[in-house]
Amino acid sequence: MKVLLLTHPMSPVPFADALAQAAPGLDLRVWDKAMDDEALAQVEVLLAWRLPVGLAPRMPRLRWVCSVAAGVEKLLVPDLPAAVAVSRTVDPGQAFAIAQYVTLMALRHARRLPRHEGLQRERVWRREPSFAARHRVLVLGTGATGSAIAQMLSAVGFEVQGWSRRRGGEAGPLLAAADIVVCALPLTAQTERFFDAGRLAQMKPGAYLVNIARGAHVVEADLIDAVRSGHLAGAALDVQSSEPLPADHALWAVDGITITPHIAGEATPQTVARQFAEGLAALQAGRPLPRQVDRAAGY
Ligand SMILES: NC(=O)c1ccc[n+]([C@@H]2O[C@H](COP(=O)([O-])OP(=O)(O)OC[C@H]3O[C@@H](n4cnc5c(N)ncnc54)[C@H](OP(=O)(O)O)[C@@H]3O)[C@@H](O)[C@H]2O)c1
Repeated sequence: MKVLLLTHPMSPVPFADALAQAAPGLDLRVWDKAMDDEALAQVEVLLAWRLPVGLAPRMPRLRWVCSVAAGVEKLLVPDLPAAVAVSRTVDPGQAFAIAQYVTLMALRHARRLPRHEGLQRERVWRREPSFAARHRVLVLGTGATGSAIAQMLSAVGFEVQGWSRRRGGEAGPLLAAADIVVCALPLTAQTERFFDAGRLAQMKPGAYLVNIARGAHVVEADLIDAVRSGHLAGAALDVQSSEPLPADHALWAVDGITITPHIAGEATPQTVARQFAEGLAALQAGRPLPRQVDRAAGY
């Protein structure tokens, strides 16, 4: 089967190297802008990070798209035919790394580390009341990532509650009761702009938001207002609506908001390649694809 690797803007090299180990003999071509229609017409399988609009119609033999990431929203483009199966990579090591990131940010906020760092800058040695963190944390999305986050937060003493589609019900009362809210939702038509002015207003005064999912879950201008007005204590955003975040973006300079460049966790190329090889074997044998996404649900 002809496989196309399209990891742009990430380098394809680590993935191609890992595929050479996990699936020797693979009929692999690395995407380049110069690929003509004849070459694209041969492609049956795509391993990709994002699918530019206009490319899928040039691949009439395409049967399966596998995401190198956990999220698939950049692959579910409108011109991808409905019959093409889509699956994703689920790396437990990545979920563990993201859980560490969230725990770091939650503890940093709950144990008031920025306050002590500020005092250090002023060379002030002053003891203030400091107790074990038992904050209530709401984790939105309890899938591969959210469940790892909930487990680690519970282990360090937070009181954790999860919310998922299956669980149902309005998020409002849960948002109102949480000291820290963690977004681990997939980006879908239902979850885009989830944190708008209305939902941010539902959050408890003084609460803190951690977003490790996708930047488009948060209406950034509304978050900035919520933090600047003092309604929210702040936020840790590993993802932003525009990545790389432009140097002149207002988010960089909001007291209480921590920006990191989408580094909470990454699937290793080795895991991507191993899971891709498993999927390819299933496709060739006519078995159900592992880690297949529900295209109608969008995740
Ligand atoms: N920052 C990073 O480096 C990084 C790395 C990896 C992943 N991510 C992001 O993390 C997010 C979670 O990934 P994942 O692999 O954990 O996803 P997942 O396994 O598919 O889990 C998604 C969870 O969200 C819930 N959900 C979906 N739509 C919902 C809705 N409308 N209302 C309420 N709950 C809803 C699902 O509910 P059900 O359980 O009922 O289906 C499920 O619990 C994604 O946005 C992904 O792109 C970020």
